[in-house]
Amino acid sequence: MSTAKLILEGNEYEFPLVRGSEGEVGIDTVALRKHTNAISLDPGYGSTGSCLSGITFIDGEKGILRYRGYDIEKLATESSFVEVCYLLIYGELPTQEELLSFSDRLTRHTLIHEDMKKFFEGFPATAHPMAMLSAMVSSLSAYYPGAGIDEDLDLNIVRLLAKVKTVAAFSYKKSIGQPFIYPRNKYSYCANFLHMMFAVPAEDYVPPKVLIDALNLLLVLHADHEQNCSTSTVRMVGSSQTNLYASISAGISALWGPLHGGANQKVIEQLKMIREDGSNFRKYVDLAKDKSSPFRLMGFGHRVYKNFDPRARILKKTADEVLDQLGVDDPLLDIAKQLEEVALVDDYFVSRKLYPNVDFYSGIIYRAMGIPTNMFTVMFALGRMPGWIAHWKEMREEPRGRINRPRQIYTGPTQREIKPLEER
Ligand code: SDX
Repeated sequence: MSTAKLILEGNEYEFPLVRGSEGEVGIDTVALRKHTNAISLDPGYGSTGSCLSGITFIDGEKGILRYRGYDIEKLATESSFVEVCYLLIYGELPTQEELLSFSDRLTRHTLIHEDMKKFFEGFPATAHPMAMLSAMVSSLSAYYPGAGIDEDLDLNIVRLLAKVKTVAAFSYKKSIGQPFIYPRNKYSYCANFLHMMFAVPAEDYVPPKVLIDALNLLLVLHADHEQNCSTSTVRMVGSSQTNLYASISAGISALWGPLHGGANQKVIEQLKMIREDGSNFRKYVDLAKDKSSPFRLMGFGHRVYKNFDPRARILKKTADEVLDQLGVDDPLLDIAKQLEEVALVDDYFVSRKLYPNVDFYSGIIYRAMGIPTNMFTVMFALGRMPGWIAHWKEMREEPRGRINRPRQIYTGPTQREIKPLEER
């Protein structure tokens, strides 16, 4: 096994290499501080691996994304979201019998405790649905306190996957002042969510197949993405042996940020602004390049992908298809496409390998489906739920799992005495 050599202050050290199943190489620096008394420093963790994981593989240079070895392009067209949940969490695509049982359990655990409905009464009508989602998911630990590795983890996984779509739909109904619509056991996972979102007591609503299929695809595409900010947060929080619900709630909060899952909401707001400003693409592309401006092209760029995000490719194609099937003509889709064209020939974007990411086109589809902008990141969270759970489970099942506790380099004042108040 070849090693990596480090020469530090005249001493030479060797560290073992770790090779992944796809040929990735890591330098095992577990013993770095013990042997050298130095630490590695990598703010933003761009060159730092936090774990070994068998769940999702991304090749950023080639634009490859695979869940448990299956290409995202194949899963997107051949698997349901419930199948992908099972695959990510348990490692294999379910058999027919396993899928039937898993789906049935998801159906039977969709209701939330009636007392939890009262929590929604305390939220102002203007509350962002992500605030409600993270609060409600954490509150599930008040009803199911033992959600750790030893306390029937499979039951708590089913509870979380089943109830999170109910909480999401209730958050939407709360934000528009409509009564909650209860889940219906006759519906599939996606149909049930759409029914809870769009049905009203006064009339029947049958979720159209085009919406069910579009939602299924959107959730599959968002289901996991290895050690992104929110998944790393779930692992961080779970590493102290916090229960499943509170760990996932932390992930929801991390996803909310506009640099992460909150970008899908910002993309639509930005496209609207560009349209209202006479579709002056060049102005906004130039603004995004201007270092003195905080403006960025939301939905563009990625820490890992230095090629097209494969999910963005699929979503761009799906946007055309879904809007066509729904008979929706959304000018923002053309704005997005033209903005992409202008950016992708601009040297600033080309030289930095900035391409559209998963958030660039997803909002166009959500809009066409009738989902409001403030619910877009909730939709991202619904999709990412199985990924967060899979990583939490993988981390907690580590035989020598340790609490995550990074080091730092201190740059503050060295030792000094306290001056009496009158002398400061
Ligand atoms: C998601 O990690 C994941 O896997 C995330 C995700 C998942 O599935 O979990 O894929 C989901 O979060 C997608 C990303 C959504 N966020 C956005 O679309 C926000 C806009 N993009 C960025 O702010 C940025 O690209 C990030 C946050 C996505 C990545 O940030 P990095 O890796 O820290 O890159 P950086 O900020 O260091 O940028 C490198 C250079 C800088 O310029 P220079 O210093 O080299 O001159 O590229 C520039 C940046 O200024 N840059 C952009 C830009 N993104 C990067 N310039 C203009 N517009 C942009 N969008």
